[in-house]
Amino acid sequence: MMNILGIETSCDETGASVVQNGRMILSDVVASSLEFHQKYGGVIPEIASRRQLEFIHSVVDEAVISAGKKMRGIHAVAVTRAPGLLGSLLVGLSYARALGFALNIPVIETDHIKAHLYANFLQARGGEKRPVPQLPAVGLIVSGGHSSLYYIRDFHHFQLLGQTRDDAAGEAFDKTARILGLGYPGGPVIDRLARGYQRKNSLRFSSAQMPDSFDFSFSGTKTAVLYHHQKHQRDPDYDTAKVADAFQTSVVSVLVKKSIAACLKKRVRTLLVGGGVAANSGLRQALSDEAAGHGIAVAFPPLSLCMDNAAMVAGYAYHLVDAKRRKDL
Ligand code: KG4
Ligand code: ZN
Repeated sequence: MMNILGIETSCDETGASVVQNGRMILSDVVASSLEFHQKYGGVIPEIASRRQLEFIHSVVDEAVISAGKKMRGIHAVAVTRAPGLLGSLLVGLSYARALGFALNIPVIETDHIKAHLYANFLQARGGEKRPVPQLPAVGLIVSGGHSSLYYIRDFHHFQLLGQTRDDAAGEAFDKTARILGLGYPGGPVIDRLARGYQRKNSLRFSSAQMPDSFDFSFSGTKTAVLYHHQKHQRDPDYDTAKVADAFQTSVVSVLVKKSIAACLKKRVRTLLVGGGVAANSGLRQALSDEAAGHGIAVAFPPLSLCMDNAAMVAGYAYHLVDAKRRKDL
């Protein structure tokens, strides 16, 4: 039995979680400083790291206690090393290293992107049982900072197939929401408006296809929204929901097309999706439909595990611990 304490402080959140044997989430605590950033329309790094320094001790304590453990029942500490905001990452890293030193247990530094994809392998305690996805797989990561496709042979081998050439998917949602005056973060608002919009396909924004590549580009779609908004925002029948829906449809269609093409090219039957935009209901629906038609099993994390969290860090780290050490425990 191996209990790993995960710590995640890559952006505005301070997360800590205990995960058993890389699968079962015993606790998952997240404190966010989002409310302090909202009036600026984006995350302010200095505010984020200052809050994380305040939160981290109690968040870690709470994660261990609500897992029903004591510190001495923790066998390793996992922490996000990159990518993320430097000051924020440093808070988590220094805390994890100090804790590892004090408890004399290993500290495992993990990659945030791979951890996002790993969220698909986790199981909530007492929650509905989720199947363990099969590897090899293709991984689509769509977050505030990244949009990439990976071929995942196993937990140690990730091959980058393509990535965004400009905005990340979540960033495109956030910037578009800002253009439309919808506040920050933009993804959830656009998602909600698009879901409630009935007259589908009455407006279209084209998206960059780049058919010979698995790279993405979303800035053209965002600019198309900007021009449309500037031109029509004073029309009497102007409808923000219609624009939000057309934007989302455009982004989702490229994500779906390239993910399925990557699965076919790599001949895999599993597609793992991760990152904040994996919460998008339009993406979940369209990708599930398209994948089913190709006999591909698509996995999305539960909504709470799409956003930044420490459970994915603790879970993924289990596979990075040397096998002999795991067996000894
Ligand atoms: O993975 P995440 O929590 O943080 C990063 O590692 O970047 O992703 C945050 C991003 C934000 O850009 C947010 O607007 C977007 O995920 N997001 C969504 C939805 N929920 C969050 N985008 C589209 N639809 C959603 N429902
Ligand atoms: Zn993230």
